Amino acid sequence: MGRYQEIFSKSVESPDEFWGKAAESIDWSRKWDKVLDDSDPPFYKWFAGGEMNTCYNALDRHVESGRADQVAIIYDSPVTNTIEKFTYREMRDLAANFAGVLKGLGVEKGDTVIIYMPMIPQAAIAMLACARIGAVHSVVFGGFAANELAIRIDHSKPKVIVSASGAIEGKKLIEYKPLLDKAIEIAEHKPEKCVIYQRQQVKAPLSEGRDFDWQELTAKAEPADCVPVKATDPLYILYTSGTTGMPKGVVRDNGGHAVALNWSMENIYDVRSGDVFWAASDVGWVVGHSYIIYAPLLRGCTTIIYEGKPIGTPDAGAFWRVINQHGVRVLFTAPTAFRAIKKEDPEGDFVKQYDLSDFKYLFLAGERLDPDTYHWASKILKRPVIDHWWQTETGWPIAANCMGIEQMPVKPGSPTVAVPGYDVRIVDDEGKEVGPHEEGNVVVKLPLPPGTLPTLYNANEKFISSYMSKFPGYYETSDGGYIDEDGYIFVMGRIDDVINIAGHRLSTGAMEEVVATHPAIAECAVFGTDDKLKGQLPVGLVVLKAGADPDVDEMKQELVKMVRSQIGPIACYKETAVVPRLPKTRSGKILRGTMRSISNGKEYRMPSTIDDPTSLDEITETLKSMGYPK
Ligand code: COA
Ligand code: AMP
Repeated sequence: MGRYQEIFSKSVESPDEFWGKAAESIDWSRKWDKVLDDSDPPFYKWFAGGEMNTCYNALDRHVESGRADQVAIIYDSPVTNTIEKFTYREMRDLAANFAGVLKGLGVEKGDTVIIYMPMIPQAAIAMLACARIGAVHSVVFGGFAANELAIRIDHSKPKVIVSASGAIEGKKLIEYKPLLDKAIEIAEHKPEKCVIYQRQQVKAPLSEGRDFDWQELTAKAEPADCVPVKATDPLYILYTSGTTGMPKGVVRDNGGHAVALNWSMENIYDVRSGDVFWAASDVGWVVGHSYIIYAPLLRGCTTIIYEGKPIGTPDAGAFWRVINQHGVRVLFTAPTAFRAIKKEDPEGDFVKQYDLSDFKYLFLAGERLDPDTYHWASKILKRPVIDHWWQTETGWPIAANCMGIEQMPVKPGSPTVAVPGYDVRIVDDEGKEVGPHEEGNVVVKLPLPPGTLPTLYNANEKFISSYMSKFPGYYETSDGGYIDEDGYIFVMGRIDDVINIAGHRLSTGAMEEVVATHPAIAECAVFGTDDKLKGQLPVGLVVLKAGADPDVDEMKQELVKMVRSQIGPIACYKETAVVPRLPKTRSGKILRGTMRSISNGKEYRMPSTIDDPTSLDEITETLKSMGYPK
């Protein structure tokens, strides 16, 4: 038996022993009573009875154990021409200071705090400060519009919102304050106070009595110490797209999260304390939470907060410059970033200009790694390119080639094998396990390992109906795929209405909800089509109301604006066509999956329940006139 197989078997056969041992690498103020409390499935509790503090484990303990002067965070911002380094001691002091600010504003253990910030160190400071005092943060990605922020304000009911005056997005300056003000205006829940970090590039006007200046508050705050929290207490809520306009509030606990992330650094990414680890993502996404902030700091690594893009800041050599300049061992990003680089620098000429001798692995996730991009990245980098699969819900990888355990041969198109802790299976729609190579629903046998979602915020019922009820005893990933005879998992894509645009998870259902509010539109369908750069892009097909006669070009522009202002520019909604009707089943279900296959030029089976097969001919014609398949 290989090393991977041995470790994997232990993890699923004796999870208590396996994770109990892993938990010894974390500092606990009170040891757990039970590694896994499985008395109330599917609500599993890891390290029940244990107490610890995530900020203490991410900062203070490293200061106390000799890493005080090691760099914890490098802020590398080509868009502002800044490189700033923070040691573990400095980060601990900054987090303690901002924790004092939050306390001064009345934030207590268990209160929620929304963080709506660009990629600046203050975002990390705010997150860690919340963790320090047991407050629950909810970071909202800066590319979301005011309406999306308002939805999250109303659901998580923050006492305080922490934001900044603006972001520099490539070459654009985006003011955050108008978005924040609008969100608070729309939301029913009104946060008591907002803290605004004023950036040099843009100054925000503050509302008297509600808004406070970050710099002013931090100048006079008393530092706050770490408070012990229960292992099962929430560390954060991260909203992620589901099938409707109402996102799901994924909850992350403290104890299991710290144990799993710390374990993953050595075993999956093959990094140790002191190594430089760079996740080129955004703190607003799960990758940012787990692998820009928490995991590298828990492990005592140096992490990079990069405020830039893979191209254009200033060129397609940006990633290689950062790796070279900071001695990065592991880079983690989304395949779309590599497709963008490939487009600008197909021969990989920029790579040759930098010394990449510290660089050992490239890890990619967030969307399927297409074999072309895999081969190209392997060719230009000449080092392992590791596809790994995970979700906001799991918080860390479900499938990977675990570099710290045993390097397995790569099969392009597959994120390799199940990560220890995840008992991955493929089942048909009736829940029956299928054989090798047979495509079906990818599910994970319960219990999920530590670090994965214990529930959805204030929505236990939705947690069960979204993930646990269709296949009892299993977690439903909503991804389709198969496993081959060697246990390699192939993830083929979402089987629900979630799409992945440039590694960003969005809901076509949410876009439909916006499009449907246009006064000329009777009904609509939005689905994802394949795109060479961004993986997927949304397309909307709309049916006009009887008697409606809008200027169609104008209407299309209005729809683009509506989706941008209600969901955000990252939805990349640009294409709409008018159709006489939508293809449906006899019971009225719109055949989005079939339309998606047509747009991608993939073979599809005529659904036996289709109401009128000729409706598909109309759709095929319309999509053809739009240039699909591309
Ligand atoms: N704040 C405000 N607006 C944002 C934003 C943010 N944080 N992030 C993106 N946007 C805007 C962009 O400016 C763009 O606006 P536009 O339509 O006015 O031009 C729009 O949202 C779409 O952004 P994006 O899809 O990122 O397209 P892009 O052309 O700017 O960049 C890539 C393309 C491939 C370079 C970029 O998507 C990328 O770097 N992707 C990597 C993704 C990643 O790291 N994912 C995280 C998961 S690991
Ligand atoms: P998110 O919650 O934003 O991380 O998105 C999760 C979804 O992204 C998954 O359900 C998959 O559909 C997709 N995804 C992430 N990583 C991969 C991967 N390596 N291969 C295939 N799909 C992936």
